[in-house]
Amino acid sequence: MQELKRNKFRALYQPSKLLLGIIPTDAPSEFNIIALCFTMTCSYKPPMIAVSFEKKNFSYELMKSASNFVLAVPGESLAEQAMKCGLLSGRTANKFHECNFTKQQLPHTNVPGISEAIANIELSVESRLITGDHLTVIGRVIGYHVNPKNVEKNLLAIGPNIQGYKLLVRKGLHRIAVIQGHSDDFIDGFKLDRILS
Ligand SMILES: Cc1cc2nc3c(=O)[nH]c(=O)nc-3n(C[C@H](O)[C@H](O)[C@H](O)COP(=O)(O)O)c2cc1C
Repeated sequence: MQELKRNKFRALYQPSKLLLGIIPTDAPSEFNIIALCFTMTCSYKPPMIAVSFEKKNFSYELMKSASNFVLAVPGESLAEQAMKCGLLSGRTANKFHECNFTKQQLPHTNVPGISEAIANIELSVESRLITGDHLTVIGRVIGYHVNPKNVEKNLLAIGPNIQGYKLLVRKGLHRIAVIQGHSDDFIDGFKLDRILS
């Protein structure tokens, strides 16, 4: 075994799913969007997802008091927009507007999802924990919603080794990709009729 610094270790084991967090702001009916790869399922019953927000981000401030939020799952066609959500700040930009996203009303919260996404997950904030330079928020899932008409490969945040991935957008160290292979084969693999019936 060889000891490595975080950046080098991460370069070897980076691939992670990419989600877009939609978070209420202080202004009524205004919502911020942030690209997030620090996410993980942390309970089945009840279903829970943990998400970490870095201190420098506007979303960090917003998540200190938010009681609900949405995690949208972006597909291949939203790679450019997902990168924008990971580079622009809601302090100076309206990312719904910048990305031309349509707000998707959801049944259990006032926070909208993104209509163009593959899926939207509604969450209520269960607890918050400061974890070093991030705020980790544990959300309880109150609704999973998919768009059966928009089945795409979901976006991944990958490292410098792009073998096995189709790189879609790169900005500095950030690379957004999907797995290699035909989309049709990928979609067939879901046996969607069975899942949705
Ligand atoms: C692929 C990718 C993944 C990211 N993952 C996270 C993350 O998990 N947590 C985080 O706080 N920032 C993450 N970021 C950075 C934020 O999305 C970025 O700083 C954003 O501009 C913050 O927006 P805000 O100031 O509106 O909150 C990521 C960015 C990219 C491009």
